[in-house]
Amino acid sequence: MGGGVVLPDTPDTAQRSLEHWSEAGRAEMQAFYTLATEDYRVLATARDWAADLRSRATDGRLRVLDVACGSGKFPAALLAAGLPAAALDLTVAIDLLDPSAFSIAEARAVLAPPFVAAAELEIPLQDLDVQARYDVIWATHALYALPPAELTGGVARMVTALRPGGFGAVAQASAASHYLAFYDAYRATYAPDVAPYTDAEAVADALTAAGADVAVTRLHYRTGSADRAVIGGFLQRCAFDDTVPLAQMESAGPLAEYLAGCRAADGSYTFEHEAHLMTWENA
Ligand SMILES: C[S@@+](CC[C@H](N)C(=O)[O-])C[C@H]1O[C@@H](n2cnc3c(N)ncnc32)[C@H](O)[C@@H]1O
Repeated sequence: MGGGVVLPDTPDTAQRSLEHWSEAGRAEMQAFYTLATEDYRVLATARDWAADLRSRATDGRLRVLDVACGSGKFPAALLAAGLPAAALDLTVAIDLLDPSAFSIAEARAVLAPPFVAAAELEIPLQDLDVQARYDVIWATHALYALPPAELTGGVARMVTALRPGGFGAVAQASAASHYLAFYDAYRATYAPDVAPYTDAEAVADALTAAGADVAVTRLHYRTGSADRAVIGGFLQRCAFDDTVPLAQMESAGPLAEYLAGCRAADGSYTFEHEAHLMTWENA
């Protein structure tokens, strides 16, 4: 399996994402979040989100759009980090946007006060109605599978759909971070024709092109495990590919090289993350 063997069925990245964000992908998703819940814990404690919400509310109420809501790990992390105590006087009406009906149902199920489920938008970001006027819009570890040619247009819709004075936030891993480096090595070894993941740097460029004055906070952290079943499940989800087992990933090509750099002598794995938390306020 050396140097860039193309598997017979390699749907492109956006299609892989849609196929795996489904009921059939539930076990794989759960394996992924054994480690990836940390992405959201780090994010939820990175700033005073209650203050961000409070300062955009009118009469104790505001409208939030959660772009690419996935299974709701970010609102769940905010709730776990103390948002209810800090913002229970607020009503945070939250619209859930995702092309996956499975994701929307999962995210809706985790919402609790101050969040109140509002509209369900079963569409890609590229189709967001730019006439909408949200007080807050966020997209947390959400834009990796957007086709690169559609990133600028999709991100511009986020900026346009935010009201003047509204608060925007996008969290995305940087080019050097595990998710991006791993997927590049996976693609080079098993699927060279599929689109790369979008990185934080490209999102920042798209936000700037859309007129957002972006502030960036860099969040460094590590995840890992000595449990090979956990590592295998996590990595398969990172690639949206459950056909390549961990032992095969470790066996050849750029992917084996990348994984060797994450593995200690005792066989345990540590992954290095750098998430960029990009925030702006619409003029
Ligand atoms: C890693 S999850 C996002 C996690 C989420 N922010 C959370 O808090 O749990 C990625 C989500 O992006 C969605 N997605 C993929 N392509 C998309 C697109 N073009 N527009 C919006 N969402 C998309 C997927 O369906 C999936 O639910």
